[in-house]
Amino acid sequence: MFVNKPEPLIFELSAPDRKGVLLPISDVSEIDTNDLLPEDILRNDLPLPEVSEVDVVRHFVQLSQKNFSIDTGLYPLGSCTMKYNPKINERIARLPGFEAIHPLQPEDTCQGALELMYTLSVILAEIGGMDAVTLQPAAGALGELTGMLMIRAYHERVGDRSRQMVIIPDSAHGTNPATAARCGYQISRVPSNERGTVDTAKLKELIGPHVAAIMLTNPNTLGLFEDEILEISDMIHGCGALMYCDGANMNAILGKARPGDMGFDVMHFNLHKTFSTPHGGGGPGAGPVGVKEFLKPFLPAPVIEETDGYYKLNYDKPQSIGRVHSFYGNFNILVRALAYILSLGPDGLKAVSETAVLNANYVRNRLLNAYDVPYGSQCMHEFVASARRQKAHGVRALDIAKRIIDYGFHPPTIYFPLIVEEALMIEPVETESLETLNAFIDALLQIDKESIGDPDIVKNAPHEASVGRLDEALAARRLDVRWTPPGD
Ligand SMILES: Cc1ncc(COP(=O)(O)O)c(C=O)c1O
Repeated sequence: MFVNKPEPLIFELSAPDRKGVLLPISDVSEIDTNDLLPEDILRNDLPLPEVSEVDVVRHFVQLSQKNFSIDTGLYPLGSCTMKYNPKINERIARLPGFEAIHPLQPEDTCQGALELMYTLSVILAEIGGMDAVTLQPAAGALGELTGMLMIRAYHERVGDRSRQMVIIPDSAHGTNPATAARCGYQISRVPSNERGTVDTAKLKELIGPHVAAIMLTNPNTLGLFEDEILEISDMIHGCGALMYCDGANMNAILGKARPGDMGFDVMHFNLHKTFSTPHGGGGPGAGPVGVKEFLKPFLPAPVIEETDGYYKLNYDKPQSIGRVHSFYGNFNILVRALAYILSLGPDGLKAVSETAVLNANYVRNRLLNAYDVPYGSQCMHEFVASARRQKAHGVRALDIAKRIIDYGFHPPTIYFPLIVEEALMIEPVETESLETLNAFIDALLQIDKESIGDPDIVKNAPHEASVGRLDEALAARRLDVRWTPPGD
């Protein structure tokens, strides 16, 4: 449903013989295209729009303006960490030597690129407290798969095939159980305690020789630090299982704490969340995976190695789980991440996590009079509020998310984690100013007042967006991106 007047689509702008380009006169006129293409795919009638250059430019610029992006405004999507992509990263990624490089170039001709990837993997290993890192996975979810395949390969290598179970907390991101199931494991759900962290008494009941690993997010998806992590690590290792860290929330602990020091054996990083590379539409991104020394043989091949300043790709890795991506991963994303890390330096990275945590606590505490926050007395980089008070007036988390669009902000994540009723998961990130945070808080406080005084305005939102409420399930399952002529 269009709320505002719909702009004409590019086909509707079409006028006979209008042109956007002047094609040069062909100098291969003796070739008859009828000889090149099979007759059954040749058409005389091609309904393409006939438009001028300015029509095309305006059409696409208008389309882009209907979209919300991190360059347009605050994007407080909890768990997804939509942080600003500094433009210096883009400039560096566009340097001709990076942009025009070919993955099949001989090693001698791309030493700089190999050095860049090697350097990034060494820095990530240091940040995560790991011994080696692969840069191949294209996203966090593929990083999880890579890490869990290595855990499976390890158990098989040591001849321990009886381990069929992976333990995952009930607050976990959906990709964790999906990954474990994809690797052929059964999933055992460990509940959270009243503080929102892993219930270690319940965990004790679940462990045993049948457990292959635990997949844990720290800080977890409630924005809370798992403060019993060392006890958990002892329990898990004590039964011969391994510790997998979903490192999606590294933004909160960058330069402060390292999963490797907490007992984790494997972890993935989400470069888009922690190291400011573009995050959109599921990729192309990067989800590097770090491992402890004993898991190195299982890393995806090829592995970049350095001897006396010369970098080479080693494919001779007989125990490797194999490739998880073509070539070496999404190289240009890796360039951006290294640019970000080097431009900030160690102190800058610490300031990132400090500011992310400060901002989240500021927003959380200012909202407490209007919104419930069921878990924790303070938070790390994000927090999960509940719209259960507003629900008493018929206003749900979904309505609040839609209404915030009218105030010029992207909605927070809603209905996740599943253990919070009417969840509103808010992650303001470190790059937002006090003024922006205040404007966002004021909008949420105003929406709370509207929920009491004029709930319909919230329930029918958005009122200012180019499209109103969509059937999101239908839109995802039966995507229709074709233009249909009016009246058809
Ligand atoms: C906690 C957590 N784990 C895993 C993932 C999956 O990461 P990606 O989106 O890079 O596949 C996400 C993504 O939002 C996440 O928040």
